[in-house]
Amino acid sequence: MISLKKDKLLVGLDVGSYAIKAVELSPKKREGENLYEVKKIGYEVLPHDAIVEGTIIDSAAVAETIKLVFDENKISNKNVVISISGNSVIIKKISLPSMETEELAESIIWEAKHNIPYPYEETNVDYAIIKPPEATEQKTLDILLVAAKKDKISNYSNTVLQAKKNLEAIEVDVFALQNSFEINYPEYFQQKNVAIVNLGANITNVLIIARGAPQLFRDLALGGVFITENLSKDLNISIEDAEKVLKDLPVKDISPEQIKTVLHSNIQNLLDEIEKTFSFYEAIEKEEKKIENILLAGGLAKLSDLVAQFEQRLAVKTELFNPFRRIFYDDKKLDPMYAEDMAPAFAIATGLATRKMGK
Ligand SMILES: Nc1ncnc2c1ncn2[C@@H]1O[C@H](COP(=O)(O)OP(=O)(O)OP(=O)(O)O)[C@@H](O)[C@H]1O
Ligand SMILES: [Mg+2]
Repeated sequence: MISLKKDKLLVGLDVGSYAIKAVELSPKKREGENLYEVKKIGYEVLPHDAIVEGTIIDSAAVAETIKLVFDENKISNKNVVISISGNSVIIKKISLPSMETEELAESIIWEAKHNIPYPYEETNVDYAIIKPPEATEQKTLDILLVAAKKDKISNYSNTVLQAKKNLEAIEVDVFALQNSFEINYPEYFQQKNVAIVNLGANITNVLIIARGAPQLFRDLALGGVFITENLSKDLNISIEDAEKVLKDLPVKDISPEQIKTVLHSNIQNLLDEIEKTFSFYEAIEKEEKKIENILLAGGLAKLSDLVAQFEQRLAVKTELFNPFRRIFYDDKKLDPMYAEDMAPAFAIATGLATRKMGK
């Protein structure tokens, strides 16, 4: 068979403010199922302050780090998909009466102009129709309206070009997470009401999916950076040492008790915000829609004891998100220890990597 370029998979490139992650997948058949296998994978921490509050400040440094990730891990596929998040991306769920495609395009523009808190001219607008549950009569269309600020898009796309990669698509963090969740946890996706919390450096993405239907998308200004800054201030240590504390590595002249106290209050603050988001969701949903499971992703998810603290505070079964649960990798190419340790940080990159050219 001639392989058409369109079917080629893209490299999922997660340009986080703390680290760059890249994943390339290849299709893999297992027991009749079409699944994926990791072909190439890479991770590199960025220089501090290269990306601040969601803006790439030092695009040369970020482009160099992207190149390094590709070169060091021999990723030769230059076709990438990235994702963006934060307050320059707005996602709104709207309902419209069923209509023809042309009419729909006009309605979407009207809705975007009235629902997005930015001037329409400054944004790129896209939409997706949410598939109704089977056997329901379709009188209305549930639509996800997505608007992203053009300056955010050019900030990221220029950097990717500077790294000499071909930008094939721009996704939104929470949609990439949803993708990875659906592939890796199909039984949860279909049968349960699950919250996925991706704890990054500057941003925490929250996604709630009830039996296959997306319920809530939120990007909260929470993450490891705020905790390291607090640790640095309260313990009078450098940011580098604060980073060590976060990773449970020893730091000179600081007692475990001191660390415990400061970490505890930071984790409580984080949990306060997550709890508020969950309560907001449970309050607006009239039906019984209690969250049944929490999956923790992102680099900060590895913070020791965090899973237990989530369970205790929110009284919901919590576990670490494993993006390699049903995406396989060769033990000879990728150390399972490394894969397990780094896994939660690859939630978004794996979700992006399932995108095909032209899709
Ligand atoms: N082993 C660890 N234990 C605890 N925290 C960790 C560990 N490893 C990394 N972190 C923290 O996780 C955060 C990075 O997570 P992640 O890679 O998901 O963020 P990012 O995607 O680069 O950032 P963002 O999406 O917020 O821009 C950092 O704050 C880092 O200090
Ligand atoms: Mg991230």
